[in-house]
Formats: sequence, C-alpha cells, structure tokens
Amino acid sequence: MNDLRELYREVILDHNRHPRNFGELQNPDKIIEGVNPLCGDRMTLYVKMENKKIQDISFKGTGCAISVASSSLMTEKAKGSSFEEIDALFEYVHEMLTGDPTTVASNLDTLDKLTALSGVREYPTRVKCATLAWHALKNAIVGSDDKISTE
Ligand code: FES
Repeated sequence: MNDLRELYREVILDHNRHPRNFGELQNPDKIIEGVNPLCGDRMTLYVKMENKKIQDISFKGTGCAISVASSSLMTEKAKGSSFEEIDALFEYVHEMLTGDPTTVASNLDTLDKLTALSGVREYPTRVKCATLAWHALKNAIVGSDDKISTE
C-alpha cells in the first residue's frame, strides 16, 4: 500500500514539475476558462476536435500541484479520445474522487495513470483542484459555457 502511495505521489510530482501539453494551442476550436473560487486559481483549456474526437488539447494556468498534475494527466488521456470515451472517463474520475472508491478497482485499465489522483478523495478541499480540468473538458465537448467554476 505504501509503495502504491509513493508511486501515486511520484506521478503527481512528475506531472506538476513537467506538465504535459502545457501552453497555448494554435487555432483551437474551443477555449474554456476554468476557475477554482476556493483559491482563485485559473486554468485555460484549448481544444481542437473533429468527428467527435479530441485531436489536440493543451492547457495553461496556475494552480496547486494537484490541479496542474490533474490537468496534465487529463490532457494526456484525452488526446485522441472520442467524446464517448471522455464521457466514460469523466464518470470514472468523478466516482474515484467523490463517489464509490471501488470504481477504481473495476476500471483500472481505463483509468491507468489517473489512479494517481485517487488519494485526493481523502482531502475534500482538494477534490475541486483535481476536477477543474475535467469539468472544463466536459464543457468543451458538450459545447456549453466557455467559463466554468468548480462552485
Ligand atoms: Fe488552487 Fe488547488 S489550491 S487549484
């Protein structure tokens, strides 16, 4: 168990120090602004999509280690995924962070590295840090508001 926690910690630290897909995308189809009102941290998500698939995705912004790592892991996983796959991922991540923890065990293959975020459920104030990027992604694919808040 401790080894697993250490592995999760390393994944989060790595994605915080070296966030993947960080920066602005040229000619995105969608730009979503996300804010965590608890701390005032913001992120912007840039998405290119075609045929109900994420072609390219990136993010920019400031936030805590959990927020940056979660955004980085999310973009890695979302790139190339269909909207249908993203809907399922969104549900799994949400369950993993706020709902039934057994979801993790039954969806290990799909969640893959995202399981590194599973420990966040023990810190309720940080759950919003971890979900911000996911709500922004969900808004991008359903084509709703360009601004989101985790409140
Ligand atoms: Fe601001 Fe986590 S404390 S995003």
